[in-house]
Amino acid sequence: MHSFPELYEIFEKRFDQRHFPQQPGSLYDPAHYFLGIGGKRIRPVMCLMGNELFDEINPDTWHVATAIELFHNFTLIHDDIMDKAPLRRGMETVHTKYGEATALLAGDVMMVVAYDYLNKIHSSQMHKIISHFNNAAKEVCEGQQLDMDFEHRKDVSMKEYLNMISLKTSVLLAASLKMGAILGGAGEGNQNLLYEFGKNLGIAFQIQDDYLDAFGDPNKFGKQVGGDIKSNKKTFLLIHALETATPEQAGEIRRLMETNAPEKVPGILDIFKKCKVDSWALELKDKYLNLALQNLEEIAVLVARKRPLWDLAQFLVQREY
Ligand code: IPE
Ligand code: IPE
Ligand code: MG
Ligand code: MG
Ligand code: MG
Repeated sequence: MHSFPELYEIFEKRFDQRHFPQQPGSLYDPAHYFLGIGGKRIRPVMCLMGNELFDEINPDTWHVATAIELFHNFTLIHDDIMDKAPLRRGMETVHTKYGEATALLAGDVMMVVAYDYLNKIHSSQMHKIISHFNNAAKEVCEGQQLDMDFEHRKDVSMKEYLNMISLKTSVLLAASLKMGAILGGAGEGNQNLLYEFGKNLGIAFQIQDDYLDAFGDPNKFGKQVGGDIKSNKKTFLLIHALETATPEQAGEIRRLMETNAPEKVPGILDIFKKCKVDSWALELKDKYLNLALQNLEEIAVLVARKRPLWDLAQFLVQREY
């Protein structure tokens, strides 16, 4: 069994290679560039942890973990186009550096290469794995579309927000764990508990992501701070602020949302702070972290085996990048 940092190191070493042909470089170099600028690699590590919770790492799990990380990077390249994001992992986004058309294709080909890795699975569980992978992938698309639809909506409820982030973010974390568990020979009850752990942890993870987008330290975050505010994203910060603001503050938020003026981000941030959305963030994150830890507790394996997942959960909700 490995610790969280050990699994990160082992995966990174294996993943750090060229996954694409050389030619045409105008397509494959951008794809290679993106994989080389970092990333926390939490999804493949979760897949490995899901396996190791039950048994030694199955050789197929490496292929699945690699496919998951490639798929995730594909979604990020397209997400950065959709979100008009200039920066990621402290570096230029693919579309900023190489243009939108190339970024679309670099993302597409990365997704196809992900399926090449899935195609290497030897286990008789291959069909099951691919169907979990595909279900998560479709749900990510659904969540991403809702996220964009919400930009144009005046009001979004907390319930709708939670559904959207669970689709765009949580399901992939949950499926990563579950696919690992399947290959580790887990029983169905344990698989499902691990999936629920991933879903609740994923919600806490996206809450932290949305929090950092508003309040993160630009030197550590690696992404443009205030990007969600600029795009009128309906994050829990905005939803909570609108629910608790005075009529004057709510009016000011609504006025700023209709502009692209330089005071938009600082103006809305100021009201966020006055509405104490930061302490609300902590509360909300804790709620989902605790639900996740409850799921973890219920999994029927020796407590000592759960340590890496526990460590990962703490890291994900406290991270600054
Ligand atoms: C970013 O995911 C997209 C979200 C779901 C919030 P990560 O924060 O895992 O991105 P990298 O791979 O570490 O850069
Ligand atoms: C993106 O959510 C989730 C996916 C890529 C599917 P965000 O748009 O909040 O992710 P970041 O903040 O750009 O990483
Ligand atoms: Mg984004
Ligand atoms: Mg997005
Ligand atoms: Mg974000």
